[in-house]
Amino acid sequence: MTLHPNEPLADLASDAKSQLKHFFGSEASFIAAAPGRVNLIGEHIDYCDGFVLPLAIERYIVIAAAPNGRDEVRLRSVGQPEATISLKEEIGLSEPKWGNYVRGVIAGFQARGHQIPGFDACFVSSVPSGGGLSSSAALECAVATLLEGLLDTTLDTKEKALLAQKAEHEFAGVPCGIMDQFASAFGKKDQLILIDCQSGEPELVPFINPDLEILVANTCVSHDLSDGGYAARRKDTEDGLAAIGKDSWRDATMADVEAAKEAMGDRVYRRSRHVVGEIERTITAAECFKNNDYADIGRLMKASHDSLRDDFNVSCDELDLMVSLAEEIGIGGGVLGSRMTGGGFGGSTVTLCRREEAREIATAMHERYLAKTNITPEIFATRPAQGAHLL
Ligand code: GLA
Repeated sequence: MTLHPNEPLADLASDAKSQLKHFFGSEASFIAAAPGRVNLIGEHIDYCDGFVLPLAIERYIVIAAAPNGRDEVRLRSVGQPEATISLKEEIGLSEPKWGNYVRGVIAGFQARGHQIPGFDACFVSSVPSGGGLSSSAALECAVATLLEGLLDTTLDTKEKALLAQKAEHEFAGVPCGIMDQFASAFGKKDQLILIDCQSGEPELVPFINPDLEILVANTCVSHDLSDGGYAARRKDTEDGLAAIGKDSWRDATMADVEAAKEAMGDRVYRRSRHVVGEIERTITAAECFKNNDYADIGRLMKASHDSLRDDFNVSCDELDLMVSLAEEIGIGGGVLGSRMTGGGFGGSTVTLCRREEAREIATAMHERYLAKTNITPEIFATRPAQGAHLL
């Protein structure tokens, strides 16, 4: 199979329900789902007051849960050790690590004065983990949504996304921006989410052209954003901004970057050039999507990828190969544009293509990638999906 199907949400939910029955002997009182995301353009600039243009994808983390009348939370997820969280003591980092995302979100609700009831929960996922598609944000947003159900409360969507982001910062050790949690929380069917990361306001941009398809190609080379590469990039951009002497990247121009080139040194200069260029490209690309005019998209996505590879240094051979395979097919074969997506250091690419040719494009990319790397990629098509919700 070269174009992976997206497992229907209802099937994921029934799987999670049966697991809850199997492991804990209970019927689900609540089922929460939250999607991963793919970013069309605007990479590594959400923490630079930039613009980003992600969409929630038809890949979800689903949780089935029931109150257990105890002072603890018990968690099961396929292929992971069981995690237990005691509600009698202050919540901190613990083992197994995957439970920390849940701990972080529970701590966020407790900090808002909520009394968390003991519950059992089973997790299933169709978001590839380590695929650069924000499985962690999906997990955080799914847990936050589940807690809304259990506590019979509703957070403002932005507050929910920020609570999830804080969990990522403090319990997963990744100083991420707001893109992933915003995309997972605000996702809407058939809508891209243009996020102004300075104001923190999302704007929905319709993606309803029936002739277009979004292909996500997971290189299946896994990355780990907590290993320091991400934090180091973020620090470089802070140093770049300090060298320019402005308060926000939104006020910085390429001329500012050039003027501060010597003070910055080569690495910070290249990072800064990426930030200013990528903000401009994302604004232009968002206009293309708003106007349903894709003449410039290929150029913008290519420039974004090249800049992430050469200036921001977050790509890798497999991502470059996957992008070049799409570019080889080109507009004649139905490819409008392609680039790496997400944090990088492995993970996935995103390719905008004509729907009619999508399967053929995916097949060619799959076969050529496999032949060159001996790694089987996972390529799937997605439409913009609904964000975190209770089923
Ligand atoms: C990760 C982070 C996001 C964003 C991207 C890069 O996914 O979680 O906040 O910075 O990398 O665009």
